Amino acid sequence: MLVAPSILSADFGKLNEDIKAICDGGCDLIHVDVMDGHFVPNMTIGPVVVNSVAKIATKPLDVHLMVENNTFFVELFASLKPEYISFHIESEKHPHRLIQKIKSYGIKPAIVLNPHTTPESIEYLLEDLDMVLLMSVNPGFGGQKFISSVIEKASKLKKLIDKRNPNCLIQVDGGVNDKNIEQLKNAGVDVVVAGSYVFGNEDYSKAIKSLQI
Ligand code: DX5
Ligand code: ZN
Repeated sequence: MLVAPSILSADFGKLNEDIKAICDGGCDLIHVDVMDGHFVPNMTIGPVVVNSVAKIATKPLDVHLMVENNTFFVELFASLKPEYISFHIESEKHPHRLIQKIKSYGIKPAIVLNPHTTPESIEYLLEDLDMVLLMSVNPGFGGQKFISSVIEKASKLKKLIDKRNPNCLIQVDGGVNDKNIEQLKNAGVDVVVAGSYVFGNEDYSKAIKSLQI
């Protein structure tokens, strides 16, 4: 299981130190939550802060857009060369076109599904995707309770992925901890995002390793 700590739960007063600690602690990706105050009722960080994160990060960035104007934000973050950019299917009228745009920058495209959105809704996009992110909370905030129906959804998605594009990864984001990690693994999940679980632990490295099962 790959682990992507979400810096939303980091201490922004000592962000450099926290980034260094998760990289040294053995994380696989750094999950960056970008919120616009429209698609979700919260705002986070923009390219200025993410640029300084990118400079000290020794692990690849995984940018999760929770915005209405996806194309604008993809253009804004492309020059920072994240490994992945993921956008919500619920906020995009032309997902196929946007996937091609993300790829044109040499970045891996991923699509995010909110808790109510079915995996079948993106079946015909799977062959163009590197990852699908299933939300296991309503997007907007860290520290929320895990919505357990994501387990069944991940199993359904896994079947579609095996049929359409076995290279596509499944990522789960929200409320992930050492209590639900095994169920997620058994459902075929490849990558988990963990914010409050990692940054709420005194030993980030220990928390990260407890999820890398
Ligand atoms: C929620 C974000 C998550 C969040 C996860 O909108 O997408 O990445 O930071 O935080 P936890 O792990 O605390 O649920
Ligand atoms: Zn996220």
